[in-house]
Order: sequence, then C-alpha cells, then structure tokens
Amino acid sequence: MSSKISTEKDLLNEEFYQVNKAILGSFHKYRPPLNIYKFKEDVSRVVSFYEVGGRLSNEQIEEMYQLVDEELIFFSRADYSIYVKHISHQLDLVILDRNLKEHEIVDVFIDALTRRVRAFLEEPLARTLTLLQDDLAVLVEYLVEDIYRTKAFLRRLHPTHNLAEHSFNSAILALSLYVIVYAKDFSQERLVRKKFDRVVLGFFIHDVGMTKMPAFVRDKKTSLANDEMQKVTRHPTVGYEMLTKLDLKYPEIEEPVLRHHEKMTGNGYPGKISGKDFTMLARIMAVADTYAAMLTNRAYAKAKDPAVAIKELIQKNEHDLGLLGHLQNLLATANISVRPVTELLGEESN
Ligand SMILES: [Fe+2]
Repeated sequence: MSSKISTEKDLLNEEFYQVNKAILGSFHKYRPPLNIYKFKEDVSRVVSFYEVGGRLSNEQIEEMYQLVDEELIFFSRADYSIYVKHISHQLDLVILDRNLKEHEIVDVFIDALTRRVRAFLEEPLARTLTLLQDDLAVLVEYLVEDIYRTKAFLRRLHPTHNLAEHSFNSAILALSLYVIVYAKDFSQERLVRKKFDRVVLGFFIHDVGMTKMPAFVRDKKTSLANDEMQKVTRHPTVGYEMLTKLDLKYPEIEEPVLRHHEKMTGNGYPGKISGKDFTMLARIMAVADTYAAMLTNRAYAKAKDPAVAIKELIQKNEHDLGLLGHLQNLLATANISVRPVTELLGEESN
C-alpha cells in the first residue's frame, strides 16, 4: 500500500475504524448489525459497502473477507454504541481489536462486566459465576499487559448506585489500589496468575451477601431502622457462607467478602478486627467499598465530590491511611480532580 494511502487512512481513522476478521466473523453473516464501509484505493476515500436493513449476498461476503485481508473494511465511529454492545457479549474480541481507542475498550469492559456481575448477583449460581469468571479473565489479560490501565477505568465509573454498579465501581477502585500496593510483583512477574484471578473475582463479588438481604431492606429509599441495620450487617457473614456452595473457599475471595466492613479502629463488622488480622486485601476492599459508595447518590446520602470524600475518610481515620494516600495519587494522575492529601490535612490544621 502506498504511503499516500496510509496517510489518508490515518486521517480516516478519526471517523472510521478498521475491522479485523475475527470481529467480522462474530456478526450475523448476512445481516451485520451496523453499516460497513470499504476504502476505495483508486479514489482514496471510504464508501458504503453494506447498510443495516439490507442483506449481504454470498458474493459480497466473499469480497468483504478479501477486503478485510487487505485492511480495507471499516466501521463508522458513529456506530460505536452498537459496536460496544455487540462486542461486550463476546468480550475476548476486545483484546483482538487493535483499532479501538483506550476509552472505547474500557466502555466495552464496563458494559460486559456490569452485565455479568448483575446476572451473578441476581442469581448467584455456578452458571452465572462461570460467565463472570470468563469475562474477568479477559480483564486480567488486558491489565497484566499494563497495570496502570486501571486509570482509564477510574475515569468512567458508574455515576449511579445499585448493587451491580456499586460492585463494579468498588472492584475497579480496589483493583487500582491492589496493582499499586503489589506493583513489584507485577514488574518482576512473581505474580501467580491464578491468585490474581481470584483476587479480581473477590473484589467483584465482595457484596454477594447482599443478595440474601430482604428486598424491602435492600431497596429502601430512606435510612434504615435499627433492626433493619442489624439485618444488613449480617451480609458479609452471609456472603462468606455462600462461598462454600459456590466452591470459592480461597483466602483471596474470603477476605474481601467477609472483611470489607471492618475498620482500622476495630469497630467495624462482623469481626471487629484490627491490626495484623485486618489483612491488606481486606483493607483495600474496605477503602474501595466505602469510597465507591460515597461517590454516588444513595438512599441516605448525596454523592460527594471525589476530593471531599477523600478528605472525609482521612478525617474519620477508620481506614488505612497509606491506601488513602495511594487513592488520592491515583485519582490525581488519572486526571480526576482531587487535591493532595497533605493539602487537605494542612487545611484542617489551619
Ligand atoms: Fe458490603
């Protein structure tokens, strides 16, 4: 291909993206769900090849695959939302697609993982668990290539609060902290992949015990009464018990599930643990769970600004301060507006 055409194609890249064979093969053969374009080399521009509502003939399909081999088949970025929906149902394709931009890849992950975690929380069974694990394996694959890819996820947390969205947001925050705390393990490849898979799963299903709480308590739009609160405080223990049935008795999963409401002060629940008993994995989940909840509107409290939420957590002094420092740095470098911890603390002493 001439360099002139390559340059033209670079320019087109803003509006169109090149399709690869695996992705094309994942669509309905005769009736793909989005418009397809081909790059006409003789006139150096993109022209329509197929329009939604039509039907491709066998000859057209053959021609299309030839053109794909020559890197001449494109989708429009305007059809991006259709594409995200489609590819999120076959998440492994997202790794193969080298033409997507980082935020587009993240959108596909968000769509897929929120759907999977929601399905699991609606029906916490082996079947929904396997589907969630399969998609989490793709996430792990994507993250181990560059652990700081978590930052792009942090910029796109769900703004609303329900159990699935909260689970996703907390998991991303926990994962972002985890890769910083254990960054050395990643750089020296000491990390055991199976262990990391379990850590990630533990983060995503840490609130699984909430699924057994009475719906009227879980969905209540006002503050909980004392007896209702008592019921809710059982959810880490209930979740922990559910892990046996799900065949998930691993410390990397048990810790986040059972200990995510513990506090450094020893007055959390259910164990009122502190010090060494409160493991790093559990501390990470506790910070992430609390912080994620603070960023969204809940029945009993309004969403807080990321900086204000961190400031409050530091003042309360119930969580690992080192982790709060990491969290603050992370949000700052991910271009999420948060002021330095030292500044916030200084302001307090003034
Ligand atoms: Fe919880």
